[in-house]
Amino acid sequence: MSSKGVNFLRKQKFIDNVSLFKCPICGKDMGINETRSLVCTDNHSFDLAKKGYVNLLAGSRKDEYSKEMLEARKQVCDRGFFEPLLERISSLILEAIPGFQPASIKILDAGCGEGTHLAKVLADLENSGKPPWGDITGIGIDISREGIQIASKNYHHIVWCVADLARIPIKDGKVDIILNILSPSNYKEFKRILARNGLLLKVVPGTDYLGELRSVFYDQTDKEAYSNEQVIKHFSSSFNIINMEQIKYEFAVTREVLEEITRMTPLSWGVPKDRLDKVIASEIKKITVDFTLVLARNST
Ligand SMILES: C[S@@+](CC[C@H](N)C(=O)[O-])C[C@H]1O[C@@H](n2cnc3c(N)ncnc32)[C@H](O)[C@@H]1O
Repeated sequence: MSSKGVNFLRKQKFIDNVSLFKCPICGKDMGINETRSLVCTDNHSFDLAKKGYVNLLAGSRKDEYSKEMLEARKQVCDRGFFEPLLERISSLILEAIPGFQPASIKILDAGCGEGTHLAKVLADLENSGKPPWGDITGIGIDISREGIQIASKNYHHIVWCVADLARIPIKDGKVDIILNILSPSNYKEFKRILARNGLLLKVVPGTDYLGELRSVFYDQTDKEAYSNEQVIKHFSSSFNIINMEQIKYEFAVTREVLEEITRMTPLSWGVPKDRLDKVIASEIKKITVDFTLVLARNST
């Protein structure tokens, strides 16, 4: 696409979807003005960045995820590391959609990081050949500006916002499907923005996720073993789980890929350098990928 076409798309997607947004400061309706800003009826104004995203964070927040980490995550995504998980998510969505048949479907990725998961799921749905549905709109939110910048540079058709999932700048009941992949949750907010019968798909690490790294990083510490039991319990206290499954596979790695995986994961935070080096210098040839995928439908 020409750069003129890309620029048009970057602005148009906000014009088309402005009715979804509410002001993150006062909660009032938003519109778009002549100077490419989202403005609420109380005049709080948020510029659309040239790169095609909007920063709807009320106040500034320090990013935990560095640009380097998010770029490594993108490289790992592009290598197909998450592919079996994302294919399963797409097929669950395709199975579930006839249950609520909206004319157009809004999918929000809460904690989307560098955006590749949402782009891949949207592509799967678009390519499925099935849908008698209308449009699919993808909205990605993340508190990390670096993540949203990478996302908007690569995927022009998605509505990208820097935003806090504890204060989602979307009106009540506007979203049909929420993806929440390896990211924090705010179930009160998820309930509020989900349409009746809308779906929530949450992905949490399983016990063996990146086990080969964990056993070196956390050898003989209380972090060597991990359980997602508490996370699932917390989920089920807010939403009725309708499906829960394990997705587990092995991913072949070279030294280069191992180094990227080490850089992309928060598991490496605070790990002494000699342990990081030990992993990269190791003879590890495969990494275990282990997720629990939990699905709920909003009944309220
Ligand atoms: C492990 S990363 C996962 C990113 C992406 N879903 C993936 O699987 O590649 C966790 C993400 O949650 C985001 N995050 C953490 N707290 C957040 C908050 N309060 N609001 C929005 N995003 C948040 C981080 O910035 C980060 O991008």
